[in-house]
Amino acid sequence: MDKEKLIELLEDMSMEEKIDQLLQVCCYYYEKEGVITGPENAAGFSEEEVQNAGSVLGGGGAKLLRRIQENYMKKQPHHIPLLFMADVINGYRTIFPIPLAQGATFNPEIVEKAAAISAKESAAAGLHVTFSPMVDLVRDARWGRVMESAGEDAFLNSCFSKAMVEGYQGKGELKEKGRIAACVKHFAGYGAPIAGRDYNTVELSERTLREDYLPAYKAGVDAGSATVMTSFNTLDRVPSTGNKKLLRDILRGEMGFDGVIISDWAAIEELIHHGMAGDKKEAAALAIEAGVDIDMMTTCYCGNLKKLIEENEIDEALINEAALRILELKNRLGLFENPYKDADEAEEAELFLCEEHRKTAKDMAIESMVLLKNDNILPLQKEGQSIAFIGPHVNNKWISGVWSIFARIDENVTVEEGIRNLGIKDVNFARGCGFIDPDSGIDTFHDNQNVSEDSKNADQLLEEALQNAKRADVVVMPIGEISIQSGEASSRASIDIPKVQMDLFEKIYEVNQNIVVVLFNGRPLTIKDLSEKAKAVLEVWLPGTEGGNAIADVLFGNANPSGRLSMSFPYSVGQIPVYYSEFHTGRPYSDEQKDVKYLSKYLDIPNTPLYPFGYGLSYTDFEISQVTLDKSELQNGESLEASVTVKNAGRFTGKEVVQMYIQDKVGSVSRPVRQLKGFRKIELQPGEERKVIFTITEDMLKFYDINMNFTSESGEFTVYIGSDSRTQNKQDFVLV
Ligand code: GLC
Repeated sequence: MDKEKLIELLEDMSMEEKIDQLLQVCCYYYEKEGVITGPENAAGFSEEEVQNAGSVLGGGGAKLLRRIQENYMKKQPHHIPLLFMADVINGYRTIFPIPLAQGATFNPEIVEKAAAISAKESAAAGLHVTFSPMVDLVRDARWGRVMESAGEDAFLNSCFSKAMVEGYQGKGELKEKGRIAACVKHFAGYGAPIAGRDYNTVELSERTLREDYLPAYKAGVDAGSATVMTSFNTLDRVPSTGNKKLLRDILRGEMGFDGVIISDWAAIEELIHHGMAGDKKEAAALAIEAGVDIDMMTTCYCGNLKKLIEENEIDEALINEAALRILELKNRLGLFENPYKDADEAEEAELFLCEEHRKTAKDMAIESMVLLKNDNILPLQKEGQSIAFIGPHVNNKWISGVWSIFARIDENVTVEEGIRNLGIKDVNFARGCGFIDPDSGIDTFHDNQNVSEDSKNADQLLEEALQNAKRADVVVMPIGEISIQSGEASSRASIDIPKVQMDLFEKIYEVNQNIVVVLFNGRPLTIKDLSEKAKAVLEVWLPGTEGGNAIADVLFGNANPSGRLSMSFPYSVGQIPVYYSEFHTGRPYSDEQKDVKYLSKYLDIPNTPLYPFGYGLSYTDFEISQVTLDKSELQNGESLEASVTVKNAGRFTGKEVVQMYIQDKVGSVSRPVRQLKGFRKIELQPGEERKVIFTITEDMLKFYDINMNFTSESGEFTVYIGSDSRTQNKQDFVLV
């Protein structure tokens, strides 16, 4: 439909009909099906409000959504189709590793490919919009939603934001087959809640917000994301969902976003709890003034906007602009011509978990795994070694993360299944213990939910494990968090591995020190003791459908791990927030100054994390030459080249992530010790070497100066190029 026709349609709609378009309700209200992903307090919708809502969230499946659309269209006075949205965060039915693991691939290409697969499967299942990518910068592992982010770095997050939006939407029309609209979220700054407690207050200076937190949202908007979702938190004590400066001035004004803004679940009504609105009517006025188009799951808009217009509290134009943006989105998706878009059961059957999709899921899982430690024990031998797999995750199916809401958990490949698929002979498997501790805040149902049918009690589980360990050459211990320990409303004050599992580790260590830990987690964990004792630690995150097969390939050397940490692993929870691009402070500490008192340090722990951003080992050895520059002065408007030669000096083919960081030594404000400005993931055969060149431009050196102007300042800079954020391989240059 062309724009004129859309305007005519809008003009022909009653005010009530326009307001109806602004409501989004759960699929559950239509057919008691679908996934409820928020607090299900009685929203109080009338039958009519549900029936006339403009969009639906949480449903999936061609048959279900076609039926809902068909029934809806019969009653819709202007034949305006419903919009179907849902959280396809790391896959629809073929599930990819959680986004934090995707960040660890340092491979935007495979992330874009996975998003495109997710889009195809979602579109076949009748969806039009996914509430993804979540691009909140995260630096506090106590926050459960770090699992949904690409990590602690603005540049890395921005690369993934772009890749995922382009994966979901393609670079053509949204109406094209297999495409769904993206939703950049949660705007803005949701990833920095005080004390890591979900939904808590966010206190960021404008400079930090703009420098570190906004770039990834902007990257998604620049990539053409059709929608943006507001965040639950306040910024500068103003809740995002009622924040006119944030939404109208920054998002729409500065970033030029002209798509649909949707509130997060009940976030408009929550303006009351924030103390910014006295009632739903005030909340509705604040949100529509701020530019929120869709009210997710409250009656604020549908119950109050008409009154607000009649009482001249708000301008009718606000409703018209919101309703028109929603109609435009439906039009871009081609829904006026075909309300069912790609919904097709035969297509579902063909696409879900097909060979190609599973292969991408496995490839990505392999690329996301980070080898944190390896004292020459990995890779394992396929024969001639007796290997005991001991740990509650040996047969745990729940390895796709809490946002894999349409996954069928039984389709996930466990560690045991992966090892058996590889045909490894002299192996045995024992759970050894349960998953969680009684005081974990998680009801033991979930523990039982993960327990296979074995009915052994704790002593029997332990005894079986110890017997297996005594007889084994190597013990592989799949341990860590269970998936519901991360995700929304899952903050943890302690980020230790559950004590019940650490006790098992210690008991096994007493009888066999050749331990390889396979770590399952949705966030960085504090693993100092385990890391000191284990001979190897392989970080596998929550790897998705193909998890077990990918783990087996890496453990036995069919694949060489190439992931690099997307988020620092703290030495202790007391370090949090800990991230590489910190500031010197006025009293910088370095390890050489152990006895100097008045420096920025702890009395009881080091300043540095246990494992830093960008870190990860390989089965082979990479050598990176000294950085060379093609010139030492960068003129405004010009560029310079920084290069290294990377050599695979080991026995295995492998992928290295060559990372380039830049430090601005002196600025009109304090500047981070370094910032990631480029990376290249390259595969080298044994003995092969390759030159890697990074182009440095003046644009890369811009920041918000003392007057909040986004600009560069002449002076001295240092470029670092290496295999993680601690590299000291550097050269200086000057911006003149
Ligand atoms: C949740 C989440 C958001 C999600 C939405 C719909 O509360 O905060 O990320 O997209 O509700 O499920």
